[in-house]
Amino acid sequence: MYTLRDWMIVDDGRDGQSALENGNRLLIGNGYMAKRGTVEEADASYMPAIILSGVYDKYGDLWREPVNAPDPLFTILSVDCVPLTLTSERLATHEQSLDFRYGVYSRNTTWNVKDANLTISTERFISMDDVHLLCMKYTVSTDSDCLSLSIEICINTDIHDLNGPHLGNFQFEVKGQTHTLVCETLEKKIPIAIANEIVERKSLSYLIEENRSLYFFNMDGSNSVELFVFGAIWTGLDVDDPLVNVKKSVSRAKEVGWDRLLAAHKAKWDENWRAGDVVIKGDDYAQRVLRYSLYHMHIIVPRYKRICGSLSIPARGLSGQTYKGAVFWDTEMFIAPYFLVTEPELAAQFIRYRIETLPGARRKAAEYGFRGAFFAWESQETGDDACTDFGVTDVFTGRPVRTYFRDKQIHISADIVFAIKRYVDATCDFVILKEGGLELILEVARFYLSHIYYSPDRKRYESLDVVGPDEYHERVNNNAFTNRMILMVFETAEAFLNLLKEGDEAFIEKLLAKLDFSEDISLMRDVIPHFYVPQPNGQGIIEQFDGYFRLEDCSIDTVRSRLKDPKEYWGGGNGVASTTRIIKQADVVTMLALFGVDYSIPIKEANLAFYEPRTEHGSSLSACMYALLACEVGGSDWAYPFFIRSAEIDITGKSKHFAGLVYIGGTHPAANGGAWLTAVHGFCGFSLKNNKIHVTPRLPSHWEKITFRAALPDGLHEVTVTRDGWNEEII
Ligand code: BGC
Repeated sequence: MYTLRDWMIVDDGRDGQSALENGNRLLIGNGYMAKRGTVEEADASYMPAIILSGVYDKYGDLWREPVNAPDPLFTILSVDCVPLTLTSERLATHEQSLDFRYGVYSRNTTWNVKDANLTISTERFISMDDVHLLCMKYTVSTDSDCLSLSIEICINTDIHDLNGPHLGNFQFEVKGQTHTLVCETLEKKIPIAIANEIVERKSLSYLIEENRSLYFFNMDGSNSVELFVFGAIWTGLDVDDPLVNVKKSVSRAKEVGWDRLLAAHKAKWDENWRAGDVVIKGDDYAQRVLRYSLYHMHIIVPRYKRICGSLSIPARGLSGQTYKGAVFWDTEMFIAPYFLVTEPELAAQFIRYRIETLPGARRKAAEYGFRGAFFAWESQETGDDACTDFGVTDVFTGRPVRTYFRDKQIHISADIVFAIKRYVDATCDFVILKEGGLELILEVARFYLSHIYYSPDRKRYESLDVVGPDEYHERVNNNAFTNRMILMVFETAEAFLNLLKEGDEAFIEKLLAKLDFSEDISLMRDVIPHFYVPQPNGQGIIEQFDGYFRLEDCSIDTVRSRLKDPKEYWGGGNGVASTTRIIKQADVVTMLALFGVDYSIPIKEANLAFYEPRTEHGSSLSACMYALLACEVGGSDWAYPFFIRSAEIDITGKSKHFAGLVYIGGTHPAANGGAWLTAVHGFCGFSLKNNKIHVTPRLPSHWEKITFRAALPDGLHEVTVTRDGWNEEII
């Protein structure tokens, strides 16, 4: 059971399920890596992991996924050579916690051993100040005599992989109290170096056995044993010789010591919170869950610079290998808005990641016979699509199910353009357009030009055979969201071409010549007025796609009652939802939330009322879109539970853990971002245009006020919003 306090979450769960949940709930990290909230002695069955951002590997024919590094903090306590674990019968009390202001994980576990209460207390953090560093304090204490104790410390390679193993060619070295390990990934032979350095408060006798250090001691109830383990990880993607760096890192850490390392780490967190915190008055629970959501975005956003390209944020952050550690539209649509306001250079970095992976998007378009750039639905470091054609395993037959996320969820390219447009509109940073942004937009426009069809009968251009955000209905025609996004791409391409032409005609001429784009411009201009975007019907409802209204109209409960297995996949060919109007996630509603100015309040109200009862919210991306739209129509109190649902998802652990038989558990950065979106854009009616802040207060009725910050060129603006007013000041 967990308890949530101010900046603190505590959990006393001991069983396997709790351990799995706490792995996500108590995650710590710094954007370079993250370590799951498992206990120090956890074996592979607890799914311990240190996920490295942007390092991928493929084993055999299995899914390509992020690499999980060997653990330099692995420590296990034994009595008479018998390890003490969470499954030990002698376990008396156990508690794990996370200070989410500073990303410090702690653990306190007591066993009854030989008439004594023997307690392990640990603290650990992954440094925000030096991204390669992991630090742990490990304390053993007793209340009476306890003899024959030993602590084993090593760099643990018994790690869990979903589709591994990923590492080989292990070379260990133990010198004094320093362990090092160099290994390499199997596919690209990327070297990974790991080290740890052990420092005892009072010296203990130890011996080295194979690659482990073993410390022996007795306790009499008055003393305690305190060890520090400083670990470091560098890879061949950071530097040419990671081994040299990893040794330097741990020896520096030993010199600097725990207290100063912790202080430097906390100082960086204070900096993160200076721009990134949001303070809510009048609702302690909302305050806690929102801060917890913000915490999760800070531990996964890659702030450091790598020698080989920009990094972005995977859909499950760095909480594990689910979804292949890939970047989805989640980043552009749900996460980037937070950083755009609080640390705009990070929003620019996400765009640069897409610009750098444009070659992969071009390859994907060509693979399907299109021109231009069709971005990966699941993007890794090269931009080639990690998404497979068989993303779900059927629960009944164990066979892979053909899904169409990779080849038909074409809105991904437009989502990226939307994020670039939003970034440029907010910041007026046209440089990013010149540095590849406009080229990307034109290539995406070209992709859609080669995808759409002209219907001579209907006298309009259409988009056929796609998957919209609602993945339960595949291969549909004229998905309203997708069509509106495609039109936005054409409009944006046209607008930015004209804008940049005014300032630098030569640049535009050169770019158009490079891309051989002149004919496409004429085509695009012809398409814009004739491109079909589904419009509201007589009742104001926008049909999600052609024929949606002809599907069976039944309740979510009816559909659920047809499941023969709780893990059954609801979508695709045989899914229980596919033949009905029940949808997985916000679709038309997402369109209305993004293009709010195009639609009237009654249209928004009608679609909210129509689609919400038909939405399963089977994706964590759904609730916040309903909340955002509801705020626009004056329904902030109605939106509030949807906001809470987004913000608390990684605390409660109440989310889908399986798609068919495929494990999809982990943290939910898009929901974390969605919580901020709802609080700031939704409840405050905030928007940022040309570096100017606009606010329309519409707080939930029990909120007194909310304060957040926006980093603008003239300084950090603090915005305070009450129910009937707002102000901003530069701090
Ligand atoms: C959702 C997608 C989302 C992906 C990763 C899926 O369940 O339907 O919209 O991008 O998860 O979060």
